[in-house]
Amino acid sequence: MLKRILLNEFGAENGLRISYLLYCMDTSQPYNLDEVINIHRYQADKIAALRDDPDGQHNYRERMFGFPYTMIGRARLDSLQTMVETVLREEIPGDFLEAGAWRGGASIFMRALLDLWGDPARKVYVADSFQGLPPPQLEQDENLNFHLDPMLSVGLDVVQEHFARFGLLDDRVAFMPGWFEDSLKVPEPRQLAILRADGDLYQSTMDILDNLYHRMAPGGFVIIDDYGAIPACRRAVEDFRSAHGIDNPIHTIDWTGAYWRT
Ligand SMILES: C[S@@+](CC[C@H](N)C(=O)[O-])C[C@H]1O[C@@H](n2cnc3c(N)ncnc32)[C@H](O)[C@@H]1O
Repeated sequence: MLKRILLNEFGAENGLRISYLLYCMDTSQPYNLDEVINIHRYQADKIAALRDDPDGQHNYRERMFGFPYTMIGRARLDSLQTMVETVLREEIPGDFLEAGAWRGGASIFMRALLDLWGDPARKVYVADSFQGLPPPQLEQDENLNFHLDPMLSVGLDVVQEHFARFGLLDDRVAFMPGWFEDSLKVPEPRQLAILRADGDLYQSTMDILDNLYHRMAPGGFVIIDDYGAIPACRRAVEDFRSAHGIDNPIHTIDWTGAYWRT
């Protein structure tokens, strides 16, 4: 149920409603109130397309306007659950950290699982600029203009409000605001069992790995959210792994997510 709420699986129609209304505004057309109310009759194919794509590969605009708490889709949430449960069962020491949290849903999910399984001590660290991505600075990130997408900018106050809605905003959630190249240099957390790298760019991915990889506990999980979708991200992972002689096998989660164990 929590996963369905975080993914907005109950509210797919609202994304289409907002998208439709914006289209009417952009094209100076009057909206049809019956279409707003009964969008399922007018756009049945699009609703089916959203429902048939639980891993969130298509229809970015309509999906985002439904305001899910996370964009990572069902397979990556399922996999994250398996990782948290494996860490707890195998007693891998360390906290959990997501670098690139957007609206907070994946971090909320990790915090909820700690409660569900009665873990009394681990913390969830949430690192983000809370103002979207930086403009591309490296050649490897050329033309990756994610900084121009207002949808990717979510304020710290909004993310904290999202945790509070689920009753999960407490002292076992720590926020790390700022650009990764600065914000991840602090000594806490000292040890990580799960690192979720979701910063899209070569530079962001490299900043995450450079600053945090050496804190991974043996047996921990490093997740790279954009490994399949963004070649620049994949290249950062390959460059980092080859520079550090890491050859632990990489496992594919879905069309974009991948992970390895440390
Ligand atoms: C694709 S979104 C993350 C999606 C999220 N994990 C989810 O569950 O839906 C990428 C996030 O990374 C953040 N980000 C990317 N590069 C960054 C950097 N260098 N420093 C700080 N934040 C960064 C952006 O602000 C944005 O919130």
